[in-house]
Amino acid sequence: MIRAPRGTNDILPPESYRWICLEALLRRLSKVYNFEEIRTPMFEHTELFSRTVGETTDIVQKEMYTFQDKGGRDLTLRPEGTAPVVRAFLERGLDGGALPKKLFYLGPMFRYEKPQAGRYREFMQYGVEILGSPSAYSDVEVIHLGVRIAEELGLLGTTLFINTIGCPVCRKNHREDLIKHLSRRAGELCPDCLARLDKNPLRVLDCKNEPCREVATDAPLMKEYLCSDCEQHWITLQSILESVGLEYTVDPTLVRGLDYYTKTVFELKWPPLGAQDTIIGGGRYDGLIEELGGRPGPGVGFAMGLERLLLASEKGEKPIEPVMFIDCFVVMPESEDQEVSQEIANKGFELLSDFRCSRLSGDFDPLRRSVRAQMKHANRLNAKYVAIIGEEEIKQGLVTIRSMEHGWQKQVSVDRVSDFMKEEVLGGSN
Ligand code: HAM
Repeated sequence: MIRAPRGTNDILPPESYRWICLEALLRRLSKVYNFEEIRTPMFEHTELFSRTVGETTDIVQKEMYTFQDKGGRDLTLRPEGTAPVVRAFLERGLDGGALPKKLFYLGPMFRYEKPQAGRYREFMQYGVEILGSPSAYSDVEVIHLGVRIAEELGLLGTTLFINTIGCPVCRKNHREDLIKHLSRRAGELCPDCLARLDKNPLRVLDCKNEPCREVATDAPLMKEYLCSDCEQHWITLQSILESVGLEYTVDPTLVRGLDYYTKTVFELKWPPLGAQDTIIGGGRYDGLIEELGGRPGPGVGFAMGLERLLLASEKGEKPIEPVMFIDCFVVMPESEDQEVSQEIANKGFELLSDFRCSRLSGDFDPLRRSVRAQMKHANRLNAKYVAIIGEEEIKQGLVTIRSMEHGWQKQVSVDRVSDFMKEEVLGGSN
């Protein structure tokens, strides 16, 4: 048997209903915060990610699904959504329109990671980006949206961690001292961190290996090296968070796993999820637009994994309960007379088609098992009504309607039954 590739998921009903509910919630909240949807390709030129996410990051070094197409192009299945959004923003001339541009996306991302609960090789991300605003209010706007999503899903007890990692100006001053500190303890670092030490010492602070984390704990902190612009942004950010009542914890070691960030970085964690408890990750990236060939321009955003959100929702206060039902199941009993049987099937199928054209959801049993089995099928589908069209009904021009919820049964003339059902199910709304 051919199995699905490791780290991928098949989303089956009823689970797929929970996805639909979550995606609807994300679209509704995007509208509330006035973000518009953007859809970008699932693969891009590899260079887009190596230049922006960073050559020395885990994503670029170890996790990308990179391949050559038949034309010899070097392509990569997108591991994240921010670089593609900025690429499209510039390529399609959105930078020439009204700014800031507020965009959201919802789609699969691909990373060759070690799969475990909440971490997959193909996963769905929802993300938002505000392009063209340097304001700390925009940082708080995206954070506020992220926290609202968690609240709407009933996730109590999330913690918002924030930090600033400055800009290239502050980083230059910090870098020297950081390299000195790391070099003194080079013997304790893992081979990856040793290799990154000179090129990108900040990455060492993001390493998950225990000895490297230990070295990171007393490393020089970026906040001591901030330039006046970054310092001001950092202070303003915290005062806005306080003014809108968003509680936060400053984590001076939070640097995030992608290189494009400047100034603000943040994560929202929900501890009951265990090892993979970061539901949202984001920050500001004021150099990214320029890096991709645009005029210098700021940006800020976040992304969240939908699988993690759904795992969390199941454990939270308000699990998403899929409500699954159909309006009407048409039961078509067989008759001993072949011709009558055919007539029943034709009438029954016509009736079902009428229901469906009237926006009523419906189904039937194409295998035409016994009436008992057809009724069982109707129950499994959680049908609100059953319409029975058998030999007697055909003779009298009637259909028997049974309300599965209330238990009553009525006979309705075949010409009126569609209107009757519309009235029953849709009431005055049709
Ligand atoms: P990220 O931290 O790499 O950031 O990913 C954001 C979120 O995606 C994570 O917090 C997690 O919920 C989910 N996620 C990441 N990897 C996996 C995985 N292998 N399996 C399941 N879920 C996963 C970014 O991607 C940035 N582009 C976020 C951003 C947008 N920053 C600014 N704008």
